[in-house]
Amino acid sequence: MAQRTSDNAIGVRRLGFGVSGPHGTPLVHPSLTADLIYRAVDRGVRLFDTGPSYGAGEAERRLGEAMRRLPRHDCIISTKVGLSSSGLARRIRDFSPEGVRKSVEGSLKRLGMKRIEWLLLHGPAPSEITDDLLKTLTDLKRKGDIAVLGIAGRGPELEAALATGQFGVFMAPVHAALKPYDLARLARIRATGAEIVGIEALAPALPRFPAPVTPGATWRLARALAGRFGAHAPTPMTPEECLVWALGEGGAHRVVVTTTRPEHFDANVYAVTTPSTGRLIGGPSSLS
Ligand SMILES: NC(=O)c1ccc[n+]([C@@H]2O[C@H](COP(=O)([O-])OP(=O)(O)OC[C@H]3O[C@@H](n4cnc5c(N)ncnc54)[C@H](OP(=O)(O)O)[C@@H]3O)[C@@H](O)[C@H]2O)c1
Repeated sequence: MAQRTSDNAIGVRRLGFGVSGPHGTPLVHPSLTADLIYRAVDRGVRLFDTGPSYGAGEAERRLGEAMRRLPRHDCIISTKVGLSSSGLARRIRDFSPEGVRKSVEGSLKRLGMKRIEWLLLHGPAPSEITDDLLKTLTDLKRKGDIAVLGIAGRGPELEAALATGQFGVFMAPVHAALKPYDLARLARIRATGAEIVGIEALAPALPRFPAPVTPGATWRLARALAGRFGAHAPTPMTPEECLVWALGEGGAHRVVVTTTRPEHFDANVYAVTTPSTGRLIGGPSSLS
């Protein structure tokens, strides 16, 4: 079902793979995470998103390990800062200059890389985007530890980041059940030339409380029961329709999707490379 890189290289560049959630836990064997990463690179996917809070660094370690085993590649590795976990599902917030420096150092080590292509603030409150934080991030950029600064959020923190003029990547929910003011915010961000990376794109296609029949569904059920459910979208759509919508009407330049199932991964590649993506808007000129 899936098409290979050469069939639609631009389309597939708009799909990112999320090495997160179950990929940081024993629900998924590290070899399955690695196989999905190899599969993604083989299909032409070049964006991989992870973060130190996913499994207390385990997801970053898995991504770094898999990348080291691949021949030279031009992948964008996106990781985050500001949230970490102790391994017991306890989340720790720290956007202090010292905390940020320490977190970046840890991410570089776990990923086995000299530079982080995209460093995203992980869900800061608007008040946490301080001058001290921005100065620290600028210093890290100057030092060469990070290339592009971004934010992963879902509310006014996105506007706060936009107002600083220092953020190039905005990772946020993009799906057909978003409220008009969320869509308007995305349109304002997009109009500045920043890159919109859609998450929760499949929300309208997924049950709110899934039966725990796959590691991915088990993870989502646990998250929903813990009250950490991000999106609930009542409009039923197929996963393919969701991806086409996010990259078309939704205005996302790219979407990041996670899965624990190779057949789901291939279906997602197919969705972004199929002729129906003729409806897609163009990506930013930086799309690589
Ligand atoms: N949500 C957030 O709060 C957040 C915040 C920051 C960054 N991110 C990034 O965004 C990525 C995506 O996370 P998300 O929360 O937005 O979840 P999502 O990728 O929209 O959905 C993930 C779920 O969809 C299922 N799935 C994937 N492809 C499918 C298909 N073709 N058909 C049916 N089911 C499919 C997966 O289950 P199976 O394993 O069974 O396929 C998984 O449970 C993360 O990996 C992370 O990198 C998310």
